[in-house]
Amino acid sequence: MKVLVTGHTGYIGAVLVPRLRDAGHEVVGLDTDFFAGCDFRAGLDDVPALRTDLREVDQNALVGFDAVIHLAALSNDPLGDLNTDCTYDINHRASVRLARLAKAAGVPRFLFSSSCSLYGVAAGDGLLAEDAAFNPVTAYGASKVRVEQDVAPLADSTFSPTFLRNATAYGVSPRLRADLVVNNLVGFAYTTGEVLIASDGTPWRPLVHIEDISRAFLAVLEAPRDLVHNEAFNVGRTTENYQIRDIADMVRDVVPGSRIKYAPGGGPDPRCYRVACDKISQRLPEFKPQWTVRRGIEQLYAAFKEHGLTAEEFLSTRYLRLKQIKKLQAAELLDDTLRWVAPAR
Ligand SMILES: NC(=O)c1ccc[n+]([C@@H]2O[C@H](COP(=O)([O-])OP(=O)(O)OC[C@H]3O[C@@H](n4cnc5c(N)ncnc54)[C@H](O)[C@@H]3O)[C@@H](O)[C@H]2O)c1
Repeated sequence: MKVLVTGHTGYIGAVLVPRLRDAGHEVVGLDTDFFAGCDFRAGLDDVPALRTDLREVDQNALVGFDAVIHLAALSNDPLGDLNTDCTYDINHRASVRLARLAKAAGVPRFLFSSSCSLYGVAAGDGLLAEDAAFNPVTAYGASKVRVEQDVAPLADSTFSPTFLRNATAYGVSPRLRADLVVNNLVGFAYTTGEVLIASDGTPWRPLVHIEDISRAFLAVLEAPRDLVHNEAFNVGRTTENYQIRDIADMVRDVVPGSRIKYAPGGGPDPRCYRVACDKISQRLPEFKPQWTVRRGIEQLYAAFKEHGLTAEEFLSTRYLRLKQIKKLQAAELLDDTLRWVAPAR
């Protein structure tokens, strides 16, 4: 299939693109390149790409694709809170516009990278399946709810959207991120000797490796249409829900000499939920997740050791999205709406 992947040079995209190509798909990317040069290691696939802002995409650019995999977004709560109107503009309005343009251009499949953060504060402590209530606590989470609600009505015999609600990601990517909980705890443990917990350690999180997220996108892409048409899937494994303190214990066990430390003032985190991921495995048996958090911690530790990661590098603009965006704004390369200032490009 000929597939357009937006956000293809981000943390997930950098791992997803080679997997799609290995499976024989033709990939074209689309990214505004906020994180150009923010590399942990070489390995970013060189695919034909549109270097453009999602908000400016033209319908003609979408003609001829069999599917759009839509990853591009301001991707996490702190970045989403920087300018909430901009977050809704990119994550919500531009995403819905992209879906409409794709449909008008005759693209039959639209795979949206949604998030389990749309469940937000869960009532009770049961496992949340796809029919659970939305309860987002951040602009980022709310933007995912709005896209799902506005794109679902576009579904018809010519257009099949699918909503992949990814759990919190972890794992090694050419475009690493330091602000995701597993990556963060391993990075702190390796570079400072302390497994630094920002909350009181009690919140629950569903976790998934970025290679398993990529497997899920591939399985949905290749599935018969009627199995995925206008469906939402939690992406992860039901057995991979953890409290933060359990992750910290595993990190301490893997990273020699490290010890657990609670950051002063860390209370309970309102973002607390556990999800059931049985639907995707039952509906799409080709989707076979391979990773556990324990193995992911080992992968990250080995990669950080091989790289010789320092605390300074780990907490730099290279791996922290918010810092990188603020740096580009301070240098007047990006304006307040996160558009490139033309002459500088
Ligand atoms: N990482 C996670 O834990 C996680 C979990 C659930 C869902 N998701 C979703 O998966 C997707 C990818 O996440 P990620 O972790 O790879 O994020 P990322 O920040 O690493 O990558 C996002 C990419 O999108 C691009 N982008 C942002 N705004 C753009 C715009 N206006 N126009 C064009 N390109 C733009 C960025 O340049 C970047 O390369 C996002 O939609 C995110 O919400 C991520």
